[in-house]
Amino acid sequence: MVKKIVLIFIAAVLIALWLGGGEAVPVDSGAEIPAGEKYVALTFDDGPRRGTTDRLLDGLKERNARATFFLIGRQIEEHADLVVRMLEEGHQIGNHTWNHQKLEGKEDLECEVRLTENALEKLLGGGSYWLRPPYGYMGEGTEASFGVPLVKWSVDPRDWESRDAEKVTQAILGAVKPNSIILLHDIYPTSVDAALRVVDRLQEEGYWFVTVEELLWLNGVKPEAGKMYRTGGG
Ligand code: NI
Repeated sequence: MVKKIVLIFIAAVLIALWLGGGEAVPVDSGAEIPAGEKYVALTFDDGPRRGTTDRLLDGLKERNARATFFLIGRQIEEHADLVVRMLEEGHQIGNHTWNHQKLEGKEDLECEVRLTENALEKLLGGGSYWLRPPYGYMGEGTEASFGVPLVKWSVDPRDWESRDAEKVTQAILGAVKPNSIILLHDIYPTSVDAALRVVDRLQEEGYWFVTVEELLWLNGVKPEAGKMYRTGGG
């Protein structure tokens, strides 16, 4: 119970600071977390999609689990209710480009990344919408041009390939460690099923499901613009 309160407190501080214009959270904010806890971040790309994302949000809410969603810009307006709900339910919202475009250079940055940022700002207000580059790819030397932290992953169950909930579940459970960042796609019903099974199993083992931003702070890592993060340890 105490751990839950501490987490809620940290989430509240992060949200308050984020709404307040993004001042840095004190570096020692992670120090109040009990040592030896296990934290993990589920991340979902390529949504939102009606029928899968909403079912996922229901399941995460029931389980008191938070996640991070990297959204496709052109799908935001049509699914505005789902995006607002993500924010209200404590999830982190990030940018996965306007049209799932491979980021080769500065022009892609302007069209693909900024357009999506604008759509998020219009709907949710100003904020720091972290970027997951499609295919995890960034053109050489472009990282530094992004004004937000960049997020890759450390566990990839290739959910888009098998589309098999049990295979995806087992692939995650076989690879997950504390501080893992897990890559999934909330556009497949099988991935939603797998994600909720994974939450059930890992919560029994004492894991907490937090956003990528929370995961970094819990590790005492201060997120930096233009830097790529693959695990909670940086
Ligand atoms: Ni993608």
